[in-house]
Amino acid sequence: MTFIEVRDLIKIYHTKEYNVRVPALRGIELDIAEGEFISIIGPSGSGKTTLLLVLAGMAEPSAGFIRVGDVRLDKLTDDTRSLYRRFKVGTLWQIPNRNLIWEINIQENVEIPMRLLGIPREQRIKSAKDLLSEVGLEKRMKHKPSQLSGGEVQRAGLACALAHNPVLLLADEPTGELDSKTAGELLRYFKTLNEAYGITAIMVTHDFDVAKSTDRLIQIVDGRISGYSPTEKLKTIRDMHHVYLDRYGGIQLPRHIVDKLEVQREIFIDEKDNQIFLHQNDQNEVKKQRNKKQ
Ligand SMILES: Nc1ncnc2c1ncn2[C@@H]1O[C@H](COP(=O)(O)OP(=O)(O)OP(=O)(O)O)[C@@H](O)[C@H]1O
Ligand SMILES: [Mg+2]
Repeated sequence: MTFIEVRDLIKIYHTKEYNVRVPALRGIELDIAEGEFISIIGPSGSGKTTLLLVLAGMAEPSAGFIRVGDVRLDKLTDDTRSLYRRFKVGTLWQIPNRNLIWEINIQENVEIPMRLLGIPREQRIKSAKDLLSEVGLEKRMKHKPSQLSGGEVQRAGLACALAHNPVLLLADEPTGELDSKTAGELLRYFKTLNEAYGITAIMVTHDFDVAKSTDRLIQIVDGRISGYSPTEKLKTIRDMHHVYLDRYGGIQLPRHIVDKLEVQREIFIDEKDNQIFLHQNDQNEVKKQRNKKQ
């Protein structure tokens, strides 16, 4: 059984002040297996953060079906949503002060999610030490975040995200503020922990090199899945030949193909020998013109 199943997920933000509705997700369809490490890539404003917020139980879907494990996120009440958030999900954000409290040391930070679950002090301290050792911060436990480097702060954030043993780890551009070497380091820890704990992980990134280190890459454009591909054979984003065909027969063509076409115009479809061709000129007309000339 797939661990995460999303069907026709729609999220519309409603800004009451100006009575404006912004469709951020416009029919997302996704299946993610347990333990998979997925990256989500896509242009700014395409709905990546919104999808993570819905998966994290931090934003309510407007319509559609969304299941994580045995939890139907589209059916949660405010109370059950907050329990889901607290028990099931770990999050790691780009901006460090969303992950950590600046006034206390990182061991105390890692203890907080465990405190909320009522885990006894001794056990909390042991788990916090274990987790911080696993992200290479065993000598820094008594340091406050301001005394750490950018990479170390994100590693401490990762330890915090895993402290309550979540089933789903969601990261929104966690390497966005890091140089490529430090980003690579964080990713190695991310991957090792993800495998060791068998957690399903989803990471949003702008960076194709970062996305390459995950199992599978999913591309979102304008609030819809436009393509997906296992990462092992991808050299560039243009090697992504898989496009998603939704149940209504819709596909979203990759940007570099859209750029070669004239948009907001019809396209013609031909089927020949099990292959499908898309043309912007009516091929019958093209043939007729050719015959006329001959
Ligand atoms: N709270 C909100 N209220 C109204 N509109 C919003 C809100 N949050 C996001 N949006 C809009 O929803 C759309 C998707 O936004 P989202 O933040 O999910 O994009 P993103 O892919 O994460 O972009 P970026 O790469 O810049 O972080 C955008 O048009 C955005 O302006
Ligand atoms: Mg975003």
